[in-house]
Amino acid sequence: MEKKRIFAGLLSAFIMCTSVPAVSGIAAEGADNGTEIIYSADFEDGVNDFTGRDSANTLTISDSGANGSSKCMVCSGREKNWHGPQILLDGMCEPGVQYTVSAWVKAAWYNEINISMEYTDESGERHYPSLKSVVSNGDWVEIPEVKFSIPENTTNNYIYFQCNDTADISVDDFVIQTAPVHQIQEDIVSLKDAYSPYFKIGTAVTTDELAPQSTKNLILKHFNSVTLGNELKPESILDKNACLSLAASGDDTNPQVNLASARNILNFCRDNDMPVRGHVLVWHSQTPDWFFKEGYSDSGSWVTKDVMLKRMENYIKNVFAALEKEYPTVDIYAWDVVNEAWLDNGSPREPGGYNQNPETSGWVKVFGDNSFIEPAFEYARKYAPEDCMLYYNDFNEYMPQKTEAIYKMAMELKEKNLIDGIGMQSHLDVGFPTVSSYEKALAKFASTGLDVQVTELDITTTDTSEVGFKKQADIYKGIMDACVKYSDSISAVVFWGTTDDKSWRASKYPLLFNEDYTAKDAFYAIVEGIDPPEYVLGDVDMNGSIEVSDLITVQKYLVKKTDLSEQKFKLADLNGDGTVNAYDMIMLKRILLK
Ligand code: GLA
Repeated sequence: MEKKRIFAGLLSAFIMCTSVPAVSGIAAEGADNGTEIIYSADFEDGVNDFTGRDSANTLTISDSGANGSSKCMVCSGREKNWHGPQILLDGMCEPGVQYTVSAWVKAAWYNEINISMEYTDESGERHYPSLKSVVSNGDWVEIPEVKFSIPENTTNNYIYFQCNDTADISVDDFVIQTAPVHQIQEDIVSLKDAYSPYFKIGTAVTTDELAPQSTKNLILKHFNSVTLGNELKPESILDKNACLSLAASGDDTNPQVNLASARNILNFCRDNDMPVRGHVLVWHSQTPDWFFKEGYSDSGSWVTKDVMLKRMENYIKNVFAALEKEYPTVDIYAWDVVNEAWLDNGSPREPGGYNQNPETSGWVKVFGDNSFIEPAFEYARKYAPEDCMLYYNDFNEYMPQKTEAIYKMAMELKEKNLIDGIGMQSHLDVGFPTVSSYEKALAKFASTGLDVQVTELDITTTDTSEVGFKKQADIYKGIMDACVKYSDSISAVVFWGTTDDKSWRASKYPLLFNEDYTAKDAFYAIVEGIDPPEYVLGDVDMNGSIEVSDLITVQKYLVKKTDLSEQKFKLADLNGDGTVNAYDMIMLKRILLK
């Protein structure tokens, strides 16, 4: 309700200060999906709230609009790729709400035009997530409704247009509206409940993906583990400015970290008692080159192995310390210590910087081989909380030579009590690998005696017909059956994403839920025949027994610290009067006191 009023207020404010919206009749409500236009400009009467990203840029109105309108906005004087028109979102868009932006764009000659966001996080670092690119041949091209949200605790949020040379960019029919809100299906079985006798069921989210309330609801209903999609990776939490200032005072071996970009998701996990998989400490990818270089400079020389060992130790130490300090109550039950160190042929990656070639490894460049793996686990063991399990994580883990390399490494680390488990990413396709070759790798890893976690499961399909999705469902069922078969060795199965449209492989529909949050055939296939356990009234945590923790959960709900899923609410409503209140607490206490 509150939000509606804000939007309505904003809408009238913008109607006064912008041109007539592109949608005639000032449609505040989208036709049938509950969306609301909060800003629109067709540039018939000026550039409205747009400015140039650089003082060299000029914005003018030209007489050649898109979609038959008479005028559009043109940005000229662009000297750099990133120059272009921008609009400030602060005060217009609320953090945590999902919006869409659409526009028509044209470049003066053949060009790729990109629409991006910019924001500054709490630590003062600026981020530039790209939203969409389209190609203009000197003609008008539509940027269809692209989803975005502004993260919490950020300032200077902009949407801007850029293109890969200095061509003029024209923009018309620019619209920002709230994204459709979908209800999740409450009447289907919860995945985490269905699989609770076997293992945790997790998902991965990025800050942007978590923004819609529907995603939060979906996660609370189906998952009991969250992996941060990007926000705990070195490139997200390394604080370059803090590293540089410490280096200036003489210490260039103590990389500083900042959890700003992880906060949205970690706050959600903290507030909802959601266990977290930490991902990832040591990786060749999404780790800036400067981390491995003299003076923390991309153009510096590679540091020595000794310096890098110190940087590695301090980085790992600082990550655990920051999480312990800021999120002492979040259960980070597992960490991927090293990710993707072995190639399919069982050898280490080629040495080299990520900037030049994202497949090469800065770690191998400094260490000469994969000998960085063992110290990474040593330091993780030294600084991780005692109950946090430590994993080696990789993809194509079913390629025979890779399986062998991982197995051998894991056994050596196990011997030294440095590793707790192997993470199988499991980015699969309906055509490859076969369920039996996947199961073979699973069996091999289980035979180490270590824990196994499926850490990033998604299964792509290019056949989007009914038959195609049925085939996808069959493969999903095969993989999940294999996991159940080895469930004594598996503590979590994590899907890499929530709804198909938000997947990193969105064009191949790899997940269990459609864009509108409805369950796909794959969902029904993997819960079929898996009987969810029956819970007794009062077992609010749904762990099979009534304990003090159930009381605490109800207490937290009553003081509005947490929300309860529909099922937990029913288990907490002991007197069945449709509310959860002090009377239910008293009944729960009585049960506990027998
Ligand atoms: C790998 C990484 C993940 C993620 C995916 C792609 O599997 O481990 O962190 O980056 O690629 O989204």
